[in-house]
Amino acid sequence: MWENFLFSVDRKETTMSMRLLARKMLFMRGASWQHPVIRLGLTALDPVDAIIRSATGLRSLPRYSTRVRSNGLSNQFGGGKFARQGRVILHMLQRHCALSPKSRVLEIGCGCGRTAVQLASFLEAEKYVGMDIEMVSLEACRDNPHLKRRGFKFDLIDIQNNEYNPKGRFRADEYRFSYLDGSMDCVFLISVFTHMLPEDVSNYVTEIGRMLDRGGMCLFSTFLIDHGRGGRGLNFAHDGNGFSYYDVRMPEIAVAYPQRFFEDSFGRAGLVLHEVKLGSWRDDGRGSYPEFGQDVLVFKKAA
Ligand SMILES: C[S@@+](CC[C@H](N)C(=O)[O-])C[C@H]1O[C@@H](n2cnc3c(N)ncnc32)[C@H](O)[C@@H]1O
Repeated sequence: MWENFLFSVDRKETTMSMRLLARKMLFMRGASWQHPVIRLGLTALDPVDAIIRSATGLRSLPRYSTRVRSNGLSNQFGGGKFARQGRVILHMLQRHCALSPKSRVLEIGCGCGRTAVQLASFLEAEKYVGMDIEMVSLEACRDNPHLKRRGFKFDLIDIQNNEYNPKGRFRADEYRFSYLDGSMDCVFLISVFTHMLPEDVSNYVTEIGRMLDRGGMCLFSTFLIDHGRGGRGLNFAHDGNGFSYYDVRMPEIAVAYPQRFFEDSFGRAGLVLHEVKLGSWRDDGRGSYPEFGQDVLVFKKAA
């Protein structure tokens, strides 16, 4: 959801005040798309968004209301931001994980396909598996003809998360993925650990270590707390045991970690830190990728 904060740093303050006002008026708790009035409004705008996308060559993107569910409200209309960010993530995978068309790729928390849509023009057929716990987003991927043509596979797994799947059957801190040992060259997670608590993240990291082949890479985005708690836009003022969070009512709305937490978890899973790219979500607005504001970490499994 916090891609809302990742674009224009200049607009951050105004956007924030408007959002807070809207939340107060609608008695909102949790993510914006969960509010029935907002959901209705977004769905009503879907046909107009589809016309704009057809005219701008973005027909292969999921509908507006689904994009908001996965990626937040701000600037989603028309699909330009969604497409640009997808291209940036593809570029990061190519640059930092040496992704090639032959790489076997697993995306955990693929949402409605922001990166998958871009990967479909790069990877060879049947090289990609995406999984998610949220049905509407996952089904948007399964129904997308552009992704079907590439033989991309999408798995819906009923794992519990307070924000995205509160009634899920399985626990994230003990879930075993069905993908085989050493079956992936690249595993990536964009804005997923930002919604997960430490025990859940640690278990996923163990699983990532198991599923990656030797020399395989894991890239993920996060909020690193080492360089400050953030600012007026997004501030991790509350502390849990080994993590910090933004919203006292639901920590999973946005979770931040110290870099050490990832180094230790990945270290136990047999991976070492390969690269750190700081994002632009802090008030100083600096970042390696202006189009994508979260911090990005890359870990590598020994060859
Ligand atoms: C902000 S969205 C990002 C979606 C997608 N990664 C993207 O870049 O557009 C967060 C996603 O993480 C998924 N998610 C949350 N908890 C998860 C978990 N325990 N396992 C897998 N996915 C999870 C949500 O369902 C949601 O699709």
